[in-house]
Amino acid sequence: MKFQHLISVSDLNDKDIVALCEKAQKKTAPPKLTGPSRSALGLVFLEPSTRTRVSFERAAQILNRRYVILGAEGTSVEKGESLFDSLQCLRSYGIETFVVRTKENGALEKLRQAKLGTLINAGTGTEEHPTQALGDLAALLELVKGDWEKLQGFKLGIIGDLRRSRVARSWSLLAPRFGIELKLMSPKPFKPTAWGTGLPWADQKDLHELDAVMALRVQKERAEGDEEALVADFIRRFRLSGADMGPKRFLMHPGPVNWGVELSPELLNSPRSLVVRQMEMGLRVRAAILDAVL
Ligand code: CP
Repeated sequence: MKFQHLISVSDLNDKDIVALCEKAQKKTAPPKLTGPSRSALGLVFLEPSTRTRVSFERAAQILNRRYVILGAEGTSVEKGESLFDSLQCLRSYGIETFVVRTKENGALEKLRQAKLGTLINAGTGTEEHPTQALGDLAALLELVKGDWEKLQGFKLGIIGDLRRSRVARSWSLLAPRFGIELKLMSPKPFKPTAWGTGLPWADQKDLHELDAVMALRVQKERAEGDEEALVADFIRRFRLSGADMGPKRFLMHPGPVNWGVELSPELLNSPRSLVVRQMEMGLRVRAAILDAVL
């Protein structure tokens, strides 16, 4: 594999994506340790995370790689230290690969130019979340038993808070490269302004055409004002329930779920749900990414 940074799914060529998703179909065997001087990994998470942070941590453990975690609390980030200064500090301690989650749009592009080391985007603001989309793609590949041809024409709907969704943004770049037909669904205030032009839009009546539907979390923490009325309208018109799934449609969600908002609680144990597989494949894809870059 030939990528240096992974800030966007666009940093990977199709061959790399195929290799990562296919590697994720197998469990990763731990490699042999070659000594304590092997370069370490910095997990820099300046926004809350469970899945991404823990799966990168587990991936590093599985690969027998050393890592340090830098969070927003209890570190000099609380004193106002910049992301650049924090990474420079980690670099001076022998860390040259950084997994970064931040709310700052554009931060990773600035860091790329600063050449502090290899960067892996673990979710930046409202920009991209490439490793989530790649894990989701690996889960779909598993669904079709590793046959890429069967993903050609696969109809995936993404429904919800698209404007603030970095997962949807990464998916909008990834889907066309593998013949997956994306359909976007959201109320007008949740429609993206920075991307999505030219992508097909759908509404609830089109749900029956989909092979899978991915619901997105309503991101209350990024709300700019009172969204109570908007969320109430969203729940009334866009919340997915068991009736929306039908006998064959698969349910996806990158998590964490606001139960009762984007998903009706009856879907918690839905046999059509791929949510757990998305998390499992997220770990495997992240292990394959770390194995490639470290
Ligand atoms: N999907 C996702 O990024 O989840 P976390 O915020 O828990 O990492």
